[in-house]
Amino acid sequence: MQTRITKLFGIQHPIIQGGMHFVGLADLAAAVSNAGGLGTITGLTQKTPNDLANEIARCRDMTDKPFAVNLTFLPTVSTPDYPGYVKAIIDGGVTVVETAGRNPIQVLPYLKDAGIKVIHKCTSVRHALKAQDIGCDAVSVDGFECGGHPGEDDIPNMILLPRAADELEIPFVSSGGQADARSLVASLAMGAEGMNMGTRFMATVEAPIHQNVKDAIVAASELDTRLIMRPLRNTERVMNNPAVERVLAIEAAKGKDTAFEDIAADVAGVYPKVMVGGDMDAGAWSCGMVAGLIDDIPTCQQLIDRIMSQAEDIIRKRLAGML
Ligand SMILES: Cc1cc2nc3c(=O)[nH]c(=O)nc-3n(C[C@H](O)[C@H](O)[C@H](O)COP(=O)(O)O)c2cc1C
Repeated sequence: MQTRITKLFGIQHPIIQGGMHFVGLADLAAAVSNAGGLGTITGLTQKTPNDLANEIARCRDMTDKPFAVNLTFLPTVSTPDYPGYVKAIIDGGVTVVETAGRNPIQVLPYLKDAGIKVIHKCTSVRHALKAQDIGCDAVSVDGFECGGHPGEDDIPNMILLPRAADELEIPFVSSGGQADARSLVASLAMGAEGMNMGTRFMATVEAPIHQNVKDAIVAASELDTRLIMRPLRNTERVMNNPAVERVLAIEAAKGKDTAFEDIAADVAGVYPKVMVGGDMDAGAWSCGMVAGLIDDIPTCQQLIDRIMSQAEDIIRKRLAGML
């Protein structure tokens, strides 16, 4: 299957693994890229630019295929050394960067000068148009279903993707709620040129996270995520657990007056405890509604092969058979 996205990034299949804090290490990125998709190393999970340079080198040792690095611009406790991370990306010969959070204009000229393709992940058509205007090569349109930060507009992909198709000239992929061949074919039908998956790639053999996390995703239904940090306008979709219930109770009590400090114990510094330590109740961790569609833990190769062969069946048999 060839789309503008496979051509732009030089990949075999139109499937991308989105950046994920403490999940997007070289092991997963290389596995996705080796399976013909685009794997992504999450830049800020690496404590320093030098650590990121080492992680890029580690990925390169495991794959000769293209892979991406994610650069996320979100409110953080301390400001990361973005110029240092950009230098590590350029010096490491990375060919694709996924930006997310704020508008990436501050890093874009450096990435473009280095010939790097930039795909910006955003949750609204107006932000996608802005990304197009400032020179991004593609966008990843992240619907309300998504794990992580769905923004504040709450528009699901059934509406957001056709709206993006109506407005955008640059190619885009669907993101949020994507899990299988049905997701891919539906995304293509709505105008996307591929799909980006987060939660689905966590439940794979190569995802370098604790088995408890993978098992929790398989066990979860589509009813098991919650939205936290809404009063802070930094909404995050997370797997429900006792820590999340505590956060929601504080937010319900304090409303608009909720401050980050009120919930910090259950949202800050949680990822190492969950992803590495396997302590599922250590705090809030991102997870998409799509957990309801995930019921196995395949290798990335098995997952991507299955998606591509079933997508072909859907298009050639189910859909063509209706004509
Ligand atoms: C555990 C987890 C951590 C994530 N961390 C990041 C991140 O650091 N930066 C980012 O841009 N997106 C992050 N995301 C969002 C994903 O890249 C992707 O956009 C999202 O998971 C898509 O929705 P899905 O989970 O329904 O597939 C994260 C998602 C999850 C599930």
